[in-house]
Amino acid sequence: MKKIQLILFGIGKVGSTFINQIIQAQEVFKQQNLEIEIPIILNSSTAFVKDEGIGENWKANFEDFGIPYQVEEIIDYVNSKNWKNVVAIDATASADFVNNYTNLVENAFHIIAANKVANTLAYDEYAFFREVLKEHKKHFLYETNVGAGLPVVETLKNLHLSGEKVTKIRGVFSGSLSYIFNTFSEENKNFSEVVALAESKGYTEPDPRVDLSGTDVARKLLILGRELQLSYNLEDVVVKNLVPAYLTETNSVTAFQEQITDLDEEFQLLKSELKENEVLRYIGELDVEDEVLEVKLVKAQKENPLGALQGADSLFEIYTESYGTQPLVIQGAGAGAAVTARGLVSDVIKLAERI
Ligand SMILES: NC(=O)c1ccc[n+]([C@@H]2O[C@H](COP(=O)([O-])OP(=O)(O)OC[C@H]3O[C@@H](n4cnc5c(N)ncnc54)[C@H](OP(=O)(O)O)[C@@H]3O)[C@@H](O)[C@H]2O)c1
Repeated sequence: MKKIQLILFGIGKVGSTFINQIIQAQEVFKQQNLEIEIPIILNSSTAFVKDEGIGENWKANFEDFGIPYQVEEIIDYVNSKNWKNVVAIDATASADFVNNYTNLVENAFHIIAANKVANTLAYDEYAFFREVLKEHKKHFLYETNVGAGLPVVETLKNLHLSGEKVTKIRGVFSGSLSYIFNTFSEENKNFSEVVALAESKGYTEPDPRVDLSGTDVARKLLILGRELQLSYNLEDVVVKNLVPAYLTETNSVTAFQEQITDLDEEFQLLKSELKENEVLRYIGELDVEDEVLEVKLVKAQKENPLGALQGADSLFEIYTESYGTQPLVIQGAGAGAAVTARGLVSDVIKLAERI
């Protein structure tokens, strides 16, 4: 039986769902000769430790027996245990936590991250961390960084590493923006009403400008570009920010929600210019040959996969030499705690096969 110890940083929506999925899948793991335990769980201030692995009452135990911690103490504790296969799971959204990655790897941790920060750092730092991983022969998996549980990163990596020439990546990378434009294109509603609807369904970030600015899409595009070993930085992505300068971060969320009706006229005009078989889509696009990374608003034909997108689905088109003019398409729920946590679990299984 191969034993794997997971140290879980972040027990919010994704982290707590991940714990429950790991606990429920124990039988399935055993059939694969795997024993997967979570001996330590942590939020930003508190750690709960149970050497033999937490069980179903983990939440109450965390509240009753959690203790303050420093990451260094956790590393020392894990080292003292001589566990063989230790994996830090980063289910935080913290930029600070990523500063611990090098130290973790130097102390024999593998890393699996839902957090996108490490893969969107300045290229030099990104490349440095790859060197640290190589030097210490540790793995870093992050399938959930793009498209949550959808197999986007792995597919792209496999194509690239098998010598396939990827020429273009294009798609709707964000569930919230997918919902907003799918709904706005089809329904007779103002843009501001659709954004409010997306907010009420929990699709947007608490501040919808985070979605509408295009930064999250740009980050995902950068991560995919880097999978093709292209040394781009976030500044290389040309982003069509849907939020005008006077409504950006300096104004409060409430002020923005009150003023978002200012955008209605512009979007109504764009809609009126669409042909009958066209819809609006907010996409990320990497043209490998022309070296252009863009986040932009485009018109798509309803009969094409991009134009036919429904609900809050994400869609990734990968154009390559062998696939020719018809891209390889990956589509489905690209956000949500359940699919993201399952993506993390599947990274754990992939890692278990490699170590
Ligand atoms: N939700 C999705 O659909 C989705 C999809 C793909 C990827 N992701 C990514 O998954 C990650 C988690 O998302 P979420 O929705 O679960 O977030 P969340 O509900 O806000 O939970 C974040 C967790 O991280 C903890 N945390 C913050 N800073 C920390 C630190 N320095 N050390 C240890 N723990 C820390 C928080 O603890 P406190 O409560 O103490 O602050 C909290 O437990 C994010 O990076 C997100 O971008 C999410």
